[in-house]
Amino acid sequence: MCGIVGYTGDELAKDILINGLKRLEYRGYDSAGVALEDATGGVTHIDVIRRVGKVAGLESELAGVDATATCGIGHTRWATHGRPSMANAHPHTSCDGRIAIVHNGIIENFAELREELAQRGHTFTSDTDTEVFAHLIEEAYYGRPAGVAAGTTAGAPAALGCHDLMAAVREACTHVVGAYGLAAVCADEPGVIAVARKDSPIVIGRGARGSYVASDVIALIDATRDVVVLEDGQFARLAPEGITYTDAEGTPIEPAVTHIDWDIDMAEKGGYPDFMLKEICEQPRVVRDTLVGRMTGGELTIDELGLSLEELNLIDRVYVIACGTSYHAGLIAKNLIEMWARIPCEVEAASEFRYRNPIITPSTLVVAVSQSGETADTLAAIRDARIKGAKVFGITNVVGSPVARESDGVIYTKANKEIAVASTKSFIGQVVSLTLLALLLAQVKYRLTVGQVRMLFRELGDTAEQIQWILDTQKDAIHEAALACKDAHSALFVGRGMGAAIANEGALKLKEISYLHAEAYAAGEMKHGPIALIDPGFPVIAIATKSPVYDKTVSNLKECEARGAKIVVVATEGDEDIAQIADHVIYIPPVRDAFSAITATVPLQLLAREVALMRGCDVDQPRNLAKSVTVE
Ligand code: G6P
Repeated sequence: MCGIVGYTGDELAKDILINGLKRLEYRGYDSAGVALEDATGGVTHIDVIRRVGKVAGLESELAGVDATATCGIGHTRWATHGRPSMANAHPHTSCDGRIAIVHNGIIENFAELREELAQRGHTFTSDTDTEVFAHLIEEAYYGRPAGVAAGTTAGAPAALGCHDLMAAVREACTHVVGAYGLAAVCADEPGVIAVARKDSPIVIGRGARGSYVASDVIALIDATRDVVVLEDGQFARLAPEGITYTDAEGTPIEPAVTHIDWDIDMAEKGGYPDFMLKEICEQPRVVRDTLVGRMTGGELTIDELGLSLEELNLIDRVYVIACGTSYHAGLIAKNLIEMWARIPCEVEAASEFRYRNPIITPSTLVVAVSQSGETADTLAAIRDARIKGAKVFGITNVVGSPVARESDGVIYTKANKEIAVASTKSFIGQVVSLTLLALLLAQVKYRLTVGQVRMLFRELGDTAEQIQWILDTQKDAIHEAALACKDAHSALFVGRGMGAAIANEGALKLKEISYLHAEAYAAGEMKHGPIALIDPGFPVIAIATKSPVYDKTVSNLKECEARGAKIVVVATEGDEDIAQIADHVIYIPPVRDAFSAITATVPLQLLAREVALMRGCDVDQPRNLAKSVTVE
């Protein structure tokens, strides 16, 4: 989500931090800030300089600051807790401002921690989850006062401070549940940066003029090509003279050093040849991040809904409105909402919705899905739906975007910035978010028990590993299938049930980036028209995973096989029989049909990319398309 950077050495820190932040800006640009250690009259203090908006704003601000600091930390933010604002921008500080931190990740138990810390007298100045970390480190470093309130840990006896920044960070981490990549500085230990990592990336490097830390190697690559990729539970203490690493107990460790031989262009892409592949490979993380904090105390929670459970219970009709790939996420949602919650659900292209006269009452829920949060058609449809009295709920990837602002409630997909024009990881984030919404609706309507919801939530989480399995094992099969498609003039994507919905996204991906005409059809409808297209060698790409309609889908494929189609099937691992009719089989792990879109879409994304590359197309910037479409 956010980008963090830190430097300690002989050079001016501010320039190094700004250059690093510019490289990390793809990770978020709601606000940016630095904390610089400076000394007046021999006493070190920390100057925090923050700006709302892009790094360029911070850069102009710093240009006028005479900062001689040679140690500092910086951050560029992608808002999660708290809107983009000066107060919520990092770095955050302890009460007396002598400790400053930058953080990437989400602290799940921040609300409890904040309450306890406030009861012990800490003052909070932001809405962020991050700020609790600064106060926890402060207590560990300087000591904790005796408790002031009974009934909480605030009632605990006073604790002495350790006066060791690295040890204080380690101690603070023991209280935190969630994900963090963290860098901290303390005015009482000039030149030291303490670093911690759990589930958020941190890389560390040592150059000729000092020590560096960042959330992405791209920010270090000018200084060094030999980096340590910190692992979960590992800590690092950076000082001008060198770096030491420890585990959670403080025992010294010697982590492996990785040599980076990418050029800067490749580094921006994380070593991948294009953004599309990088983003496809990020999808397991997107699933995990989108689920973080959603099951608390055994209860499914979506606090940002903007609707009470009573209001949700009254919902009797759902419209999903969206465009492009987001519309396809809606097709998946329709299946889930109707199956689990038994609420009628229609999916409409936003550009059509507003020019019809849809039936909207106060008990209608309109779910607007948009990666960018600024698609003109979707926004216009939201405004229209609200005027007609519907409750509008947004699902978007961009915090503070118009879709988020104009909806009654919003879920943010945790896809992080998506750069390739063809949407991949955002789609997965949308489908996971819509699945959560469907589960919640089913729960408030008493169609699913709390136990069933918990079980389904666990299985939903398992899709992260299933996607990883596909990424790790199906490369060759996808390559062979792509060879079979690359010279075609047209292709058909078919499936039934969930498979039919998935087919739509497969066809869109192929046509968007390879310029090969592709169409999606419900497999059972083939015989009513499209089968006339099939002649020997015509590619038919089928989603035929194990589901209640598997046998029916196979029968439809046999009809295509009989007419000479070249058949590529996305099938369930272990299904050997399918090879009898398929020319190429791409396997996905066994998965509940309800979740099959999350996994079965991944090979179709990879297939489209592979075909596009074989046809010499630019997979990141396909012709005629734009990432965000702000015109109707
Ligand atoms: C454009 C993009 C698509 C995207 C669609 C909807 O056409 O090229 O990838 O699916 O807009 O965008 P949204 O940001 O609203 O999801």
